[in-house]
Amino acid sequence: MRVFAILILFLVASSSYAQENWTAPEESKNIVNPYEGNIIAAQKGQKLYSKLCWTCHGKNGLGDGPAGAGLNPKPKSFADKDVQIQSDGELFWKLSNGKGMMVPYKHSLNEEMRWQLINYIRTLKAQK
Ligand code: HEC
Repeated sequence: MRVFAILILFLVASSSYAQENWTAPEESKNIVNPYEGNIIAAQKGQKLYSKLCWTCHGKNGLGDGPAGAGLNPKPKSFADKDVQIQSDGELFWKLSNGKGMMVPYKHSLNEEMRWQLINYIRTLKAQK
């Protein structure tokens, strides 16, 4: 019985944790983007994005993809200040490690591809 009680406590704790704002660990700020400002990388990222990410994050990254609509929490717009204020390293960490319906991509995409996606997300800053 005690095992069940612990399990239930764990589930309650982890589901309330899921409602909190998602923050990457402090040390991820130090991860350096080897492709920073590289426009070709961003273009490659856009190609990957339009295959893998748009269903939830929306065609233009505004968080309005058809598969994102029913999610809780929904993906934020990549143009939002909340997202753009984060460092490349933090976004890379989130993309790599995932959370909930945002699955970890470190198993399916190599580092280069993940940085390409981060560079693409950066280009969405000016859009609204
Ligand atoms: C099945 C739906 C789904 C797919 C597909 C998906 N994401 Fe996400 N993504 C989410 C959700 C939901 C969140 C918000 C998670 C949260 O805040 O708990 C998120 C969050 C993120 C974040 C963090 C943004 C923030 O709020 O700080 C990044 C970066 C990201 N996704 C990138 C990507 C990229 C790049 C791809 C494609 C390789 C992708 N996602 C594919 C659902 C998805």
